Amino acid sequence: MKIGGAIRVPGDKSITQRALLLAALGGGTSTLRGALSSLDTRAAARVLRSLGAGVSPLRDGRVVRVAGRRRFAPPPSALDCRNSGTVARLLLGLLAAHPFSALVTGDRSLRRRPMGRVTEPLAAMGARFEGDAGHLPIRIRGGALRPLRCQLPVSSAQLKSALFLAGVAGAVPVAVREPEGRSRDHTERMLRAFGYSVTEDGGWIAFEPDGRLSSFDFTVPGDFSSAIFLAGAAVLAEAGSLRITGVGLNPTRTGALQVLGRMGAQLAAEPMADVLGEPAGDLVVAPSALIGTTVGAGEIPGLIDEIPMLAVLASRASGHTTFRHVGELRVKESNRLALIADNLRAVGGRAEVCGDDLHVDGTDRPPRGRVRTDGDHRIAMAFSVLGTLRGARIAVDDPDCAAVSYPGFASALRAVGGRR
Ligand code: S3P
Repeated sequence: MKIGGAIRVPGDKSITQRALLLAALGGGTSTLRGALSSLDTRAAARVLRSLGAGVSPLRDGRVVRVAGRRRFAPPPSALDCRNSGTVARLLLGLLAAHPFSALVTGDRSLRRRPMGRVTEPLAAMGARFEGDAGHLPIRIRGGALRPLRCQLPVSSAQLKSALFLAGVAGAVPVAVREPEGRSRDHTERMLRAFGYSVTEDGGWIAFEPDGRLSSFDFTVPGDFSSAIFLAGAAVLAEAGSLRITGVGLNPTRTGALQVLGRMGAQLAAEPMADVLGEPAGDLVVAPSALIGTTVGAGEIPGLIDEIPMLAVLASRASGHTTFRHVGELRVKESNRLALIADNLRAVGGRAEVCGDDLHVDGTDRPPRGRVRTDGDHRIAMAFSVLGTLRGARIAVDDPDCAAVSYPGFASALRAVGGRR
């Protein structure tokens, strides 16, 4: 396959969701340009409308306007976050400070994911939960909150952000410490842009409720976690080069660049101006012969969503690749850890899970077989990229689930040359 041209990927999912939530809780009308329009972000918009905010339709290429409400109104029905862990967890944080009862739920995959990591510290702040608060559906009743200082059980941006957003909505200080590596810091950057102090000292990240959410006009950069799939296709290609333009290059998101660099990938980031505190630029990628590497536990939070693509690339590298301490992948949109290993084996590769580590051996045999996604968008996209190799015969059971984060992924892959 020959790769070529320049392409833009859709807006960043994490940043779009945070911008929607903060705009809905702010005053006045905010404007979002380049926002992601996907199943996950549309779920966020629907939930915010039920809480009284005005959110214009999310459509590809359309500017989104959000009329904020300062305080949310009691929702008329259950708040369905569909497949989105970010929406569910950040929303629980915001609801913790609202004096009404709300039922938060999601699809089958989201109802399986752990929520106790969020509801326990929120309960310590003063939120009340009815029944089992370990899994959705969860009924929360918020109210006046107490300050929180909390050592987090996992390095998770969703957890950290939920607690900071409770601090914003409840006007109380919140300090957290992550155990291993730094998770993405979009929330911290946005809160600083609203004048809040968010400081770091000895591993503690401390938020003070000294800012104010005002309306804003914001351009969302492209999603690095979507760009990685096209970059993966370019690395596996036989000739050409690909430019992916306007991608978010926040250093807490781009750990995959260092790993791919160690593996021998020809991949360069060309940073441009920051967009409201978020670095962005172009990625330029060329076909490359890869070698195996070890990805350390401290690197994992910075590339958590890129592991499906990295593992697939590792299956085409010479030698052995180990991803250490990736147990968190068991509680993503699917049991992603098991699915990566099972699917690599299903297409003729060698991969195994030992404890919390993932081991992958490279091969140059054409990959052939059936891939089970369990509706996980990143599994679908990673194995679709593997299917672009010469001689590959891969059947992905649900390629359309890519629309959770990257609507139009299949045509983007074809456009850059990734046909079989
Ligand atoms: C996200 C954080 C990550 C990531 C998810 C989006 C976010 O989850 O996997 O896709 O927007 O904060 P964790 O923070 O739970 O690791």
